[in-house]
Amino acid sequence: MPFEIVNGDITKLNVDAIVNAANNTLLGGGGVDGAIHRAAGPELLKECMTLGGCETGQAKITKGYNLPAKYVIHTVGPIWQGGKANEPELLASCYTNSLKLATQYECETVAFPLISSGAYGYPKMDAMEIAGETIKEYIREHDMHVFLVIFGHESFFRNKPLYQTVQEYIEKHYNEFAAEAICEGNSRYYAETRRRREWDFENHPPLESKKLSIEDVDWEEVINQTDKGFSQTLQDMIAARGIKDSKCYNDAQIDKRLFSKIKSDPQYRPSKPTVFAFAIALHLNLKETEALLETAGYSISNSSKFDLILRCCIGNRIYNVGQINEVLYEYDLPQMGSVANE
Ligand code: APR
Repeated sequence: MPFEIVNGDITKLNVDAIVNAANNTLLGGGGVDGAIHRAAGPELLKECMTLGGCETGQAKITKGYNLPAKYVIHTVGPIWQGGKANEPELLASCYTNSLKLATQYECETVAFPLISSGAYGYPKMDAMEIAGETIKEYIREHDMHVFLVIFGHESFFRNKPLYQTVQEYIEKHYNEFAAEAICEGNSRYYAETRRRREWDFENHPPLESKKLSIEDVDWEEVINQTDKGFSQTLQDMIAARGIKDSKCYNDAQIDKRLFSKIKSDPQYRPSKPTVFAFAIALHLNLKETEALLETAGYSISNSSKFDLILRCCIGNRIYNVGQINEVLYEYDLPQMGSVANE
C-alpha cells in the first residue's frame, strides 16, 4: 500500500488520522504537539486530560475537533540519549502502536510527523530510516495510505548511493537530452510549418487520405487491430512473472482499490508514475517498460527529470519503489503510488 513522504504542515491534512509527537503528560507542548493543539482547539486538551498520560512508545487516540483530520493519535517518542537506551525500539513502537490504533478505528489514511526528531533530539536520518521501515512493513499487510510529513523541505537521502548515481545521470543526460529535445523539437517545428506554408491544404487535400465513407470501415478489424490495453498487458505480465496480484501492487506501492479499478476496466488509463511503479514491481527492463508505457499512451521523455530518474534506476536494475521514491522526494517530484498522480 502507498507510503508517501510529503512536505507540509500536518495540521492541514485532510486524512482520517494525524499522529501527534506528544510528551508523557499528553497535556500539550511545543513543536508539532503545540501546532496540533492550537489547530484542534481547547476541546482536544480537555479530552487529553481524561487519558491519564501515555507511556513512551505507546499511543492513545482522541477526536480531531477543529482539525480536518477525524482523529489525533498521540504517541510519545523516546528522548535521544545516544542510542543505548532502547531508543530505536521505542521509536519503532510509536509507529507500530499508532498504526494499530488507526486500524482499530478503521482509518484508511494516516499522517505522521517525524517523531522524536525535534525537541527530543533523535538524529533525523536515523529517525527517518526507522519511520520508513516500520511503516512500510506494517502497510504490506494492512490497506492503509500513510504519509510521513516533513515540516519544511529537509533533505534525508542525498548521501545515499542511489541518489548519487541518479544525480550524476541527470547532470549528464538531462542537460544533454534537454538541449537535444529543444533543438530537435525546434527543427521539427520549423520543418512542419515550412511544409504547411508550402502546401496549401485548402486546394490540395492531403493525397494520402482518400475520403473513407463510414460504411467502408471494418470496425471489427479496427478494434481487433488495437493492441491489448494497459490493463490486459499488465495482467499478462503479472501472469508471466508468476507472481500474485497482491505482491505486484504491494511492491508497486499502489493502492489495492486502484489496482482493482485497473483490472476491471480494460480501457483504464493510469498515470505515468503508476505505469512506472508497475514496471519496477515487475522488474521490467527498459524495452519492456517502454512497451508497457505505450499501452497507456506514454513514452519515456528525455526532457523529463522524472522519466530520466526512472530510466536510470531501471537501467541500473534498481527495483525498489521506496528507494526510488526517496530520490523523487529529493527532486521534489511526484512519488510513485501517490494519490495525487491519479
Ligand atoms: N507539521 C509537521 N511536522 C511538524 C510540524 C507540523 N506543523 N511542526 C513541527 N514538525 C516536525 C518537526 O520539524 C520535527 O521534525 O515534527 C518533528 C518532531 O518534532 P517535535 O514536535 O519537537 O517532537 P519531538 O521531537 O517528538 O519532541 C516531543 O516536544 O513539542 C514537545 O510536547 C512535545 O515534549 C514533547 C516534545
